[in-house]
Amino acid sequence: MQNVTLTREQAAVFQAIEGTREHVFVTGRAGTGKSTLLNHLNWHTQKQIVICAPTGVAALNVGGQTIHSLFRLPIGVIADHDIEQNDAVRKILNAMDTLVIDEVSMVNADLMDAMDRSLRQARQRPHDPFGGVQVVLFGDPYQLAPVPGSGDERRYFADTYSSMWFFDANVWREADLRIYELGEIHRQHDDAFKRMLDAVRHGWVTAEIAGALNDAGARRPWPEQGAITLATTNETVNRINRSQLHRLPGQSLANEAEVNGDFGGRAFPADERLELKLGAQVMFLRNDTAVRGDGPRWVNGTIGTVTSLTREVRVEIDGEEHEVEPATWEKYRYTWDPARKKLERQIVAEFTQFPLRLAWAVTIHKSQGASYDAAIVDLGSRVFSPGQTYVALSRLTSLEGLYLARPLRPSDIMVDRDVERFMSGAVRDIGTDAVQPGATA
Ligand SMILES: Nc1ncnc2c1ncn2[C@@H]1O[C@H](COP(=O)(O)OP(=O)(O)OP(=O)(O)O)[C@@H](O)[C@H]1O
Ligand SMILES: [Mg+2]
Repeated sequence: MQNVTLTREQAAVFQAIEGTREHVFVTGRAGTGKSTLLNHLNWHTQKQIVICAPTGVAALNVGGQTIHSLFRLPIGVIADHDIEQNDAVRKILNAMDTLVIDEVSMVNADLMDAMDRSLRQARQRPHDPFGGVQVVLFGDPYQLAPVPGSGDERRYFADTYSSMWFFDANVWREADLRIYELGEIHRQHDDAFKRMLDAVRHGWVTAEIAGALNDAGARRPWPEQGAITLATTNETVNRINRSQLHRLPGQSLANEAEVNGDFGGRAFPADERLELKLGAQVMFLRNDTAVRGDGPRWVNGTIGTVTSLTREVRVEIDGEEHEVEPATWEKYRYTWDPARKKLERQIVAEFTQFPLRLAWAVTIHKSQGASYDAAIVDLGSRVFSPGQTYVALSRLTSLEGLYLARPLRPSDIMVDRDVERFMSGAVRDIGTDAVQPGATA
């Protein structure tokens, strides 16, 4: 991942972040390379940056810390409560030039404002948004939304903000947010499929488009092997994985993860107890780290089949067998090194497990960010959150790989009104060679 060549529009956004102190929101449709650009920034920036994300899994994916642990914030609505800060937190908040937040679509307005207040307080600049820190946000609001909390929390948001979304936080009344929208899609290459995905994203699905998706996806037999099911609920996913594992002959073998340090609850990046059988369909949870001439053997999201469990774990991918070693996920915390005057990333916990998960099925939620060549999309009895169908369909690299457990219905296409309001009203700096349906910059 460290070594992709950025496209012109990606490079332009990188320059804007590096060369200015403006607050930036890097957005764009699924597969436009937001995560790729964030990764590049992490490796190539000259600034003192700190990377964080709203959830543990998202933080691990980008080698950052969760927002709550970085700022030591309590769980739940923070509102105007006092924010406690010890010396260590204050040092870090003072040392950074730039705060990078990935998957910002899942950050709610209250948390955004709490970060603002926390930075002003720590840096003793009560009148400057974010205490003078540059804030760089990455995400696509047409995908995952903030998780609505308890009834009381919802009422708090309804009384306090226009919506729960990060873009409705109060801090944006005082600070400008510059929006860069990446236009070029790298995950899919077929223009007709890209147009269908745009229609699902924006709720413009005509009978003709639905017909084309259904013709491709719902009217043909499922592949025997190698396709993953993307489902709306954990319940469906666990049921499919358990029953498929059970159906295989032979003994299952389990491997317990090795956990060192404090992972803070159960935010593990893989199963604590991984149960596998010969023939099990698995998904890789990490990119291949061994560097070879002919490229990586797998990436995060690659599907394969277990072919050996004794002595060593072997997985077959596209007819080729590979030995798989356990992988270690590192949980980071930022600390300030006064001698070197640098922000250091320190490992505070490690989780070691085979980078595999049973993969006959995953939730659409967990499939966020991944790419699949083939998948069965199971929207179940109903789609219950905006963007869900878009996230599921946009994981596919091509229409040929799409299978639908049932035909699409109009009610599967849900677009969040607040997202539409924000995105259609937003003035953007669009990437160079972008095709932008619906963009009214
Ligand atoms: N400059 C590039 N050169 C080659 N491949 C790229 C480039 N940028 C992105 N890609 C590839 O395109 C795919 C999608 O990229 P990435 O996951 O970064 O997109 P994303 O915008 O984060 O998507 P999502 O919204 O689904 O999370 C990946 O396979 C990535 O390797
Ligand atoms: Mg991404």
